[in-house]
Amino acid sequence: MSIEHKTGRPIDELIRDGEDPELLYAELRSAFEQERGKASTPQQGQALRDRWLGRRSGLLSATNDHWLKAAPRELKPVVGKLQNLLRREIEAAVEAAARAAVEEQAQAEPDLDATLPGPERACGAIHPVRLALEEVLDIFRPLGYSVAEGPEIETFFYNFEALNFPPDHPAVDEMDTLFLNDGALLRTHTSPCQIRIMESKRPPLRYVVHGKVYRNDTPDATHSPMFHQLEMFAVDESITFGDLKGTLEHFVRCFFGPQTQARFRPSFFPFTEPSAEVDITCPFCSRSGCRICKQTGFIEVLGCGMIDPNVLRNAGLDPQRYQGFAAGFGLDRFAMLKYNIDDILLMYQGDARFLRQFR
Ligand code: DAH
Repeated sequence: MSIEHKTGRPIDELIRDGEDPELLYAELRSAFEQERGKASTPQQGQALRDRWLGRRSGLLSATNDHWLKAAPRELKPVVGKLQNLLRREIEAAVEAAARAAVEEQAQAEPDLDATLPGPERACGAIHPVRLALEEVLDIFRPLGYSVAEGPEIETFFYNFEALNFPPDHPAVDEMDTLFLNDGALLRTHTSPCQIRIMESKRPPLRYVVHGKVYRNDTPDATHSPMFHQLEMFAVDESITFGDLKGTLEHFVRCFFGPQTQARFRPSFFPFTEPSAEVDITCPFCSRSGCRICKQTGFIEVLGCGMIDPNVLRNAGLDPQRYQGFAAGFGLDRFAMLKYNIDDILLMYQGDARFLRQFR
């Protein structure tokens, strides 16, 4: 247990020899200071504490036997005081050394806890409208349909006139058209893309067109001023209503499930003749009646028909030679039915809690 000190004699020897209390105090103190300077890790701090303050074999305890006991009676109080002073100094110093060592180590090591979960990576989700679109495209692509888009800013001609709307047709108002400067407008449906494609490509044509459409509607659970439509059409030399029916029946079975049946109801659109609206058997209650189908067992999902000869003519095709069918629907509505979403506006609020569900 020898250590360096001023007199060059081992400290335990000094203690044993009952040196002059003041001198011994100074020796012990300087010996401790030297050792403390070398203790730089928490382990070394612990060893320093054991060596000096250890109950049984610590150096301070040894001073009881050899220093205090050996001191002449009149010096005992002085020795006791010096002992206490030394103990307090050593305790404080050991503590400070331990604290410094911990701080130093904390600085040297990065603040790393390998057991903590990693930072969450912001991972995008696929928007329900996009999910529905992909499902629809997956059904039409294998049937030989190409996919196209068109401009959202349209002319009156493409949005209405070429589609056989008479100039004073109430649909121009009914569709709540948003007009822009210079006679341009935000398209109210994707049907103008039919004209654009018929103008630029020769039949046979099989196309799916999709994109945003705009109407000056007051937003509520089923209306949004911007929503998505999808339009499919085919033009060839001997197309019949039977082709339209078969195609759409196949489509709704693929999209809503194999039990789904389609009901064709006569209707009217300026750009198709004859026209129909298609209802499907309610996928939520299998026709027994529920809140979603308003107890009717059917849900209206799309409009369709044989392309009006005037429309073919407006696009530069000879209606004597070519026929076509077309169908259009709201993709948002399809997404709502498929994923059981009861408010269209949820789709456009950008709330991550809603969107995250569609990973
Ligand atoms: N364009 C119609 C609308 O927005 C939907 C539609 C109906 C499209 C019948 C069609 C169709 O292609 O044949 O209300």
